[in-house]
Amino acid sequence: MSAQNARAATAIVLLAAGKGTRMRSTRPKVLHEIAGQPMLHFAIRAAITLAPQRIALVVGQDAQAVANSARSLAPEVEICLQREQLGTGHAVRMAEGALSDFDGQLIVLFGDTPFLSAATMAKLIETPEAITVLGFQTDSPGRYGRLVMDGEALLRITEAKDATPDELQIKTCNSGVMAGPAKTIFRLLSQLTSENAQGEYYLTDLPALARAEGVLTRAVFCDIAETLGINDRIDLAAAEAAFQTRARAQAMAAGATLIAPETVHFSWDTVLGQDVVIEPNVVFGPGVEIADDVTIRAFSHLAETRIAPGVSIGPFARLRGGTEIAEGAYIGNFVEMKKADFGPGAKASHLTYVGDAEVGAEANLGAGTITCNYDGVSKHRTQIGARAFIGTNTALVAPVKIGEDAYTATGSVVTKDVPPGDLAIARGRQENKPGLARKLRQRLLGLKAAKE
Ligand code: UD1
Ligand code: CA
Repeated sequence: MSAQNARAATAIVLLAAGKGTRMRSTRPKVLHEIAGQPMLHFAIRAAITLAPQRIALVVGQDAQAVANSARSLAPEVEICLQREQLGTGHAVRMAEGALSDFDGQLIVLFGDTPFLSAATMAKLIETPEAITVLGFQTDSPGRYGRLVMDGEALLRITEAKDATPDELQIKTCNSGVMAGPAKTIFRLLSQLTSENAQGEYYLTDLPALARAEGVLTRAVFCDIAETLGINDRIDLAAAEAAFQTRARAQAMAAGATLIAPETVHFSWDTVLGQDVVIEPNVVFGPGVEIADDVTIRAFSHLAETRIAPGVSIGPFARLRGGTEIAEGAYIGNFVEMKKADFGPGAKASHLTYVGDAEVGAEANLGAGTITCNYDGVSKHRTQIGARAFIGTNTALVAPVKIGEDAYTATGSVVTKDVPPGDLAIARGRQENKPGLARKLRQRLLGLKAAKE
């Protein structure tokens, strides 16, 4: 039997009702993004990997926005409202109604603590009869709650604001995460009082109440990096930096070359193949998947794009909006693509916009090729056949189809379909006026002299 199956039923209570005042934002704190994803989604994703039976999300401030965001990721999340933010213990009680029929292990997580791993969460429920607290060590314990231990046993948690000078010396801190049997937790929560420095119902009073009843209390520990909590924009930047450092290391460990790793920004979901080379100053938005042997040259920006093996992109390329680049294609400098299907071996070497378009195998788009995909109201598609050659500075006014092996003449404004193998010329014809340039210059010089 796998460890997963052996485990008791698990429910997650995720706290996200707090104001997040220190963010100074109209946006709820937990919806601020790290690596392109709301911080709340990190916690939900980690929770989901534990395959919990239930996930209850406690919302309060901006309840609707927070609930909608959570449900967009995990529709099964049960929303519990905490009308007034009376403390973390009070917040967990708000999930009691939703979980009244639940009799397994409960794990309490914070929505503003995004990096907790599923492995650490699993450690919290290894001793199912106990109340288990997740702690960490730090030399600057600051405002964190302190774990008062007696050897292995956890006696109580003291909030920094309520701690004695001796307790403030303790460097073993509370991450905020706690777990135990749901029935025990809710029973103990009903005994909480708000007689403390902040006049709040502290979740952290639970271990002391548990011990008074003879319930086992313990602490497990993780690295401080996992418990990084976000209270203000400085913490947010620190979380982003921590994420990026890890993502770069992972990419390199998996076989990608990052020439200047500290200048490459990943999204939470970027996927890179082997022998991918990323030049300096490349930014990945969400939804990028890159296969093996791809080079992304400097200053490129990619989002919602899939790239097949052997492709070269950039420098200064922007790919987005559901673009697919097939094997061996070449995309040069100052090329933008949006919702483009770019065929195998096709080329757009410079200064090109390809939007809402399909480009066939081995087609070549000359410099300044623009798909005119938007008429101010709707978007229209451009189809370019295999091996078609689009002359420099061609405007393709969509909807329009360029057949296989067709040519368009340089500077054309193409408004009609071009059949396969045809050459389209759609521009004014050139006419030369013999000697007229010289005459014109003489006249202009004469006019200038008369004025002086
Ligand atoms: C809490 C812990 C502290 C720990 C620290 C770790 C308590 C009393 N203290 O303090 O021991 O070291 O986390 O970061 O638990 N929330 C609600 N409703 C409320 C209050 C809070 O949903 O009424 C949510 C917040 O949105 C947040 C989380 O609970 O996601 C933590 O609340 P916060 O006020 O930030 O607790 P800390 O003071 O950081
Ligand atoms: Ca906090």
